[in-house]
Amino acid sequence: MKKIFILMFACMVMFACGNKQKDVAKEEIPQNTVLVLYYSQTGATASVANQLKSSMNADIEEIICENPYSGDFEATIERCKKEQEKGEIPAIKPIKADVQKYDIIFLGYPIWFGTYASPIASLLENANLEGKMIVPFCTFGSGGLESSTEDLKARLPRSVIMEGFGIRNARLSYLQDELNDFLVRNGYLQGEVEALPDFNVQDELSEADKKVFHEACDGYQFPLGTPTSVSKRYTSKGTEYRFITRNSDDVMSSKMTVYIELRNEKNAKAEFTKVVR
Ligand SMILES: Cc1cc2nc3c(=O)[nH]c(=O)nc-3n(C[C@H](O)[C@H](O)[C@H](O)COP(=O)(O)O)c2cc1C
Repeated sequence: MKKIFILMFACMVMFACGNKQKDVAKEEIPQNTVLVLYYSQTGATASVANQLKSSMNADIEEIICENPYSGDFEATIERCKKEQEKGEIPAIKPIKADVQKYDIIFLGYPIWFGTYASPIASLLENANLEGKMIVPFCTFGSGGLESSTEDLKARLPRSVIMEGFGIRNARLSYLQDELNDFLVRNGYLQGEVEALPDFNVQDELSEADKKVFHEACDGYQFPLGTPTSVSKRYTSKGTEYRFITRNSDDVMSSKMTVYIELRNEKNAKAEFTKVVR
């Protein structure tokens, strides 16, 4: 496939995995084909999958449950709780694609309870993704890319789990831009992308910082804690904030990292982009 740089992948895989998995990657890269394999209950992850398919000129397959989830949030929570109590995962229809013939699998899912949705657990039981290069992608209400990526690494220790792409379902209007940046930044597509500076040191909050935090987070359905410090970086799009928050309501006083973007456009409102728990 024209837009992929084989050498770059080889380097990335070697870097990501160390020598242990070097041979696996070398064997797979020359075929150079891409599959987008995804589960989506209410369509958000499907829109990322379809964008990936066209950007990467990839094959695509949706994971379908034998008994589909209803699409209703509360009903799905209830059903998942029952399944978890019984130690069950949902049956899925057999995958038609021969996953073995693909070099790279973009694996997509909504975040459920901080990790990949349970139909993905079923996929991992049924399909052999051992030794494959997997790029996770997901949509979420607040976050979960990092934790789900860690869970995939633990579940598939012999596969190469690359850095993934995640986007809040409330920010899908930015999908095309953000996905393209991700694909270029990680060497999957040719193009130019802005070099991102590091966040500066974590510092005390000013009144203006607090205002940004409240503007971005107060309307969200779940509490995102009280901000205790902030760091920033400045890009051509605007200012990115990284707030550390504490949730004093819970016994553990748990810590969260809340990322917020305030774009340069006139009248732009601060929006949180992800929460890392
Ligand atoms: C059962 C269930 C659990 C969820 N858990 C989380 C969660 O832990 N964190 C989060 O940010 N969003 C969570 N969400 C929200 C979904 O990740 C979000 O709506 C996603 O974009 C749905 O993708 P889809 O339209 O492809 O199904 C949950 C949704 C459901 C139905």
